[in-house]
Amino acid sequence: MIANWKMHGNLAAVRSFLHTVDAQLWRLPTRISVVFCPPASHIHAACMARSPGSRVAIGAQSISTHTQGAYTGEISAEMQADIGATHVLVGHSEDRIARQLTDADVATQAAHALEAGLTPIICIGESQAQYDATQTLSALDAQLAALAAVAKRNQPMVIAYEPVWAIGSGKTPQPAEIETVHAHIHAFFDGLKEPRDTRVPVLYGGSVKSTNAKEILALPSVNGALIGSASLNGDDFASMVLAAASLT
Ligand code: PGA
Repeated sequence: MIANWKMHGNLAAVRSFLHTVDAQLWRLPTRISVVFCPPASHIHAACMARSPGSRVAIGAQSISTHTQGAYTGEISAEMQADIGATHVLVGHSEDRIARQLTDADVATQAAHALEAGLTPIICIGESQAQYDATQTLSALDAQLAALAAVAKRNQPMVIAYEPVWAIGSGKTPQPAEIETVHAHIHAFFDGLKEPRDTRVPVLYGGSVKSTNAKEILALPSVNGALIGSASLNGDDFASMVLAAASLT
């Protein structure tokens, strides 16, 4: 279960979120993983603000496609790991659009993440136009194909299926559509020529909130959720994590 704060919050909000979440999740079953992705500026503070025994890992929201060099404003995978991140979102649609990232760039970022010891959470998803043209699966296939080489490494990675049109819009696909897409993504990884030892968890993201989280998380091929605006409230996020725990 992942909280993506995007460009929201401040130090006080980060501390208060962790205080709230830690207090409610300390008995969470170990099969559930929780990742909090604050803005990069607050990663170190988030690491320090966790309670002893916290179940919350800290993730970055993006990394550079480069490992070092004259790239003003960029942050490398190694730097994110150095300040305490253990996970990183790569290929979020907002980042793909803002930085004009290609599928190959996203695969490069995932590879850099693994080299730095970070677990990449790789976001894929179709646009509204692709959804309307019933091209969802073919759009995802193109994004997945670029990831095959990274997936073969047998290192930890997570996929987040986020329809671009569902992010921040209050709209979600029908549960049956989500299930079909997730089963398709699982089949892609199961069908790799050199199959992985561990399955790749496939999370759903896009307008997940307390009112729809349980229905989505109960789908057999959904392994968790990537939550944006509804994760800004620690109580709401904790309740969705506990809903996930109650289902498994
Ligand atoms: P949302 O964002 O939950 O606000 O739709 C999800 C995301 O962008 O990861």
